[in-house]
Amino acid sequence: MSTRPSSAPSDAYPSLAQIRDTADRLAGTILHTPVWRWQTGIIEDEFCDGGEVWLKLELFQKTGTFKLRGALNCIAALDAAARRRGVVAVSAGNHAIAVAYTARLAGCSATVVMPQHASPARIAACRELGAHVLLMPNVHQAFARGREIERDEARSMLHPYDGPLTAQGTATIGLELMAQVPALDAVVVPVGGGGLCAGIAAAVKQINPACAVYGVEPFGADALYRSFQSGAPETLERVDTVADSLGAPYAMAYSFGVCRRFVDQVVRVTDDQICRAMLHLFRDAKLVAEPAAAVATAALLGPLRDRLAGKRVALIVCGSNIDAARFAELLCRGARVRDGEKSPPADPFMQADAGGGLPLASGRRV
Ligand SMILES: Cc1ncc(COP(=O)(O)O)c(C=O)c1O
Repeated sequence: MSTRPSSAPSDAYPSLAQIRDTADRLAGTILHTPVWRWQTGIIEDEFCDGGEVWLKLELFQKTGTFKLRGALNCIAALDAAARRRGVVAVSAGNHAIAVAYTARLAGCSATVVMPQHASPARIAACRELGAHVLLMPNVHQAFARGREIERDEARSMLHPYDGPLTAQGTATIGLELMAQVPALDAVVVPVGGGGLCAGIAAAVKQINPACAVYGVEPFGADALYRSFQSGAPETLERVDTVADSLGAPYAMAYSFGVCRRFVDQVVRVTDDQICRAMLHLFRDAKLVAEPAAAVATAALLGPLRDRLAGKRVALIVCGSNIDAARFAELLCRGARVRDGEKSPPADPFMQADAGGGLPLASGRRV
């Protein structure tokens, strides 16, 4: 693979039989994550129209994200010689953590290349899991360095979001969800590079073609949205979003091809909408969702609100790797956004003080 996407979308996709085999292979190593029907707070107040909102709580997966499913499936396919040579991965965090965890489990060495701006907590997590961490100035350079290591050290590259093995891994989330909540009308999935969405959409549509699948990107990292518009995998010149895990710099042929086949639409949300969604997930569902994991909620409360009213909907909540200070900062932003929308404005801190909340350095709570 080159550091830039090839322009031809692939028409291959994970079959239901492959997805079921993958689920069997990963059983016992990954957790079968729960679903929870959201019936509190904003959903009770604003979605009391006969619809149902379900959260697929993949943030409870080992390592704190769904990324483990793809990484394990990729390493399982390596032969003994490849395992001896080790693996390399490029990621701003969650995939790197999943690869470090998986490599340790498989007894092989891992080098992970991360952009310098990656969260210090995630870098530390990779090192604690025994990975060799290299930091590069930006995501594009990190991908280029990863490719050099793959070539020079003959390590196997575990791609963060492209390829059949990754999509088969993420598809197991869709398989679980369809068994947990039958007769869904729609599934809403966060999108970075598109591997999560490709896998889930492939599973959902092959099980129930009538169920809509929506992908959600931040405006500041909308490679898949642009690729849907142009009909070919697009590269972004710049990534700018609070959802650091969704900052994939380009779409790639395989994931794009699967998404184009199975995803009904890609919608975009603002950083303010993401922060507000994090606040609702925290207050109503008591979840520590990192920004990437809140975009499906942001879409339900934003661009998809009318379309999903009265429907039976599942939102994928797929990661919780965020440190406490950053989490509190983004919840405060979400509270400001929410109150800017209310009349008269309420004081989120006073409200939350009555019922507890997360203490801030200032002594206030959200
Ligand atoms: C928490 C979380 N959600 C969503 C995504 C997006 O996944 P993908 O790049 O497969 O679209 C990522 C990617 O790292 C992630 O870490």
